[in-house]
Amino acid sequence: MQKIKFFFAIILLSGLLISIAGCSNRAKDLEQISEDDRIIIRFSHVVAESSPKGKAAKLFAQLVQERTKGKVEVQVYPNSTLYKDGEEIKALLDNNVQIIAPATAKLTEMYPEWQVFDLPFLFNNYMEVHRVMDGELGQRLFEIMKKDNIMGLAMWDSGFKQISAVRSIKEVEDFHGLIFRTMPSPVLKSQFELLGASIKELPFSEVYSALQTGVANASENPLSNFYSKKFYRVQPHLTISNHGYLAYTVLTNASFWNSLPDEIRIILEETLKEVTLWEREEAQKQNAEVEKLLGETGTTIYYLTDKQKEEWKRLLHPIYEMYIDDASKELIGDLVGNNSDDCCVILREERPKDLTYT
Ligand code: LMR
Repeated sequence: MQKIKFFFAIILLSGLLISIAGCSNRAKDLEQISEDDRIIIRFSHVVAESSPKGKAAKLFAQLVQERTKGKVEVQVYPNSTLYKDGEEIKALLDNNVQIIAPATAKLTEMYPEWQVFDLPFLFNNYMEVHRVMDGELGQRLFEIMKKDNIMGLAMWDSGFKQISAVRSIKEVEDFHGLIFRTMPSPVLKSQFELLGASIKELPFSEVYSALQTGVANASENPLSNFYSKKFYRVQPHLTISNHGYLAYTVLTNASFWNSLPDEIRIILEETLKEVTLWEREEAQKQNAEVEKLLGETGTTIYYLTDKQKEEWKRLLHPIYEMYIDDASKELIGDLVGNNSDDCCVILREERPKDLTYT
């Protein structure tokens, strides 16, 4: 009898152990993963959630959550809520944030080579932009940051920049006396100085209030930023000039990224490839849509004529010389010299008259 009791006790205990083991298998479900087990990726950016970058960051978070079954949680912090311009890169290096997506112009203090994207009237259409982003030049620019433990994951679009101001800007003389908010890129600063304006460098989070209070009274940005940040409330005049391009880098801390389990890193990288294609389409779509919506905001929209554009280009042309000849920027000289096919094609091509959305 004792033997039988002992036998049943063993069976009960085994059943209990099996069901505990079953529970721990189910712990792979999102709800049952403890905070400690989960991989948290903080993704910080400075623009609105409704912008192409904002939407793409959220899409990435959502897809990663689904595809890793909750093992990886991407926490997106939009609108400079976690870090603002000037803070993001240090935070990335310190691994306090794991993904950032700054405009290329924001990298130029540390890596002047990235100014190539700021050159005025460099690109004619999105296809040219993507050829450079995804080609040898893009690779080489990412390569430069590796020494600082920064890894480039992707390049995203904001779009062609337009000019906004408190008054209408058509002719070059209209720039005189205006104070343009700029990002921290010498090429961008020279651009407005050559056109006869003053400049005020500011982080994106301070642009609206600067334009409201008159610290600056003119600005440049693609239409999606102009609309999503409601700049039209303080900048009633917009000139469609397509004079420059705003591109983004998606960056991570290399040590963090390489420390991820292989299967997780593969999911993240594959997902990011898909989201990159989506983001680029979304940027084009939004910029085109906003152009129509702006009519309802009371914004006065002026389309630069070919003749006016030629005059702007003529005045801005010295930037190419300044940029190439600056001895302190050896690598830029190299990139726009003879060694990079992608870059040379772009720089040597005769600029067609119009920049067009494609
Ligand atoms: C700006 O500072 O004007 C833009 O770079 C903001 C952004 O990230 O689109």
